Amino acid sequence: MRLDAIFTFVILIAQSKETSLKQKQEKEQKIRYDNYRVFKIKYESLQQRQLLLELTKQYHSFRLWNENNNELHLMVKPDALPQFERQLKRANASADNFISNVQHLIDLEHEATTKSSPIFGWTRYNNLAEIENWLDEILSAYPNVTESFVIGESYEGRKIRGVRISYKSGNPGVFIESNIHAREWITSATATWLINELLSSGDDLVRGLTESHDWYIVPVLNVDGFVYSHQKDRLWRKTRQPSNISSCIGADPNRNYDAHWLENGGASTNPCAEDYAGPHAFSEPEIKAMSEYVCGIRDKLNVMLAFHSYGQLLLSPYGHTKFEFPYNYDDLMQVAKAFGDAIEGLPYGAVYKYGSAAGILYPASGATNDWAFSQDIKISYTIEFRDTGNFGFVLPPAYILPNAEEALVGIIALLAEAKKLGYLQLKYDP
Ligand code: ARG
Ligand code: ZN
Repeated sequence: MRLDAIFTFVILIAQSKETSLKQKQEKEQKIRYDNYRVFKIKYESLQQRQLLLELTKQYHSFRLWNENNNELHLMVKPDALPQFERQLKRANASADNFISNVQHLIDLEHEATTKSSPIFGWTRYNNLAEIENWLDEILSAYPNVTESFVIGESYEGRKIRGVRISYKSGNPGVFIESNIHAREWITSATATWLINELLSSGDDLVRGLTESHDWYIVPVLNVDGFVYSHQKDRLWRKTRQPSNISSCIGADPNRNYDAHWLENGGASTNPCAEDYAGPHAFSEPEIKAMSEYVCGIRDKLNVMLAFHSYGQLLLSPYGHTKFEFPYNYDDLMQVAKAFGDAIEGLPYGAVYKYGSAAGILYPASGATNDWAFSQDIKISYTIEFRDTGNFGFVLPPAYILPNAEEALVGIIALLAEAKKLGYLQLKYDP
């Protein structure tokens, strides 16, 4: 062998050692969910619910994935299975195991990401740096109709960015808040796809939609949590601001708005809980920034849509009580029905339910859509995207496009119906 060949060979071995070391470190750094299971648990009484939710106080062994008014989805650590069985018996409830190894889903998702093209797209999930680089490309590709905006800074000092799309003055405004919950990756994938589609589609319906509204889209609101969910814990939900009273980190940003904050058991006072409301309303810098930004332009906004996953739901106010309804509840339901019907008209087979958040889910106080409604943005929803619990938060990237198309078609119908009912009239003199 020639000397330079040997030299290259040695370098190659050294490099491959280095990359495998890197991969190993990366693996070691990430929290793993080997053989963690996720169960759907049906219950009838609030007492049963209480018993089941008690488990989540052991937040290392049990984590709440989802909830609606007769069902909980709970992730269980393998060595906590016997305890889980015992508590199920005590609560006289039955459970259905729908994910048998969470890590397996995370690995498949990771594989899809590393195998697919490095170019930004919607066949894989993109991280924050990729999303921001792509945003810059979009801004320079469409300089006349787009504008970058920054709503503020996160706890860890990251900028929270958005894009405004406006083709003319005098349009009603639609605000899209996305990825307030870190692990709900389908939301920023959908929000970025929407931005791209609004700007580049040649379809008449989409062109009309784009050009007759002003769009304010924040693809990732909870930037710190989102980065953490990519680098460390795929299932992180909250912000990353430490607590003064606990070693648990972060608050639930969607319980942190000053809208019936912490009322009616709609959030937790326990810093370790997934729905910890924070020490006070607007304690989380991201939510304070969001509220100030939205307040500053509230006259320009007619619609607020907060993107979440999962459950396939369109949720109106209120979240803090199921015994009261907004004055325009019937209209909100009519608009929601238009959204749901449009999605059912697509060939993908997804079905969305709709109702008030507290009515069809559970009490949740301090959420975006309730707060926006209180700021006179009268068409205000939380959208829970796919799925209904086969994959939950770890929705395979193959579903990004169907989900995004559903969102677009749903939003087209939603805005048309809202317009029909008179909700898109300007609140200011253009
Ligand atoms: N999954 C969302 C959450 O738990 C739904 C919140 C719905 N409630 C509401 N008030 N918007 O935060
Ligand atoms: Zn969410």
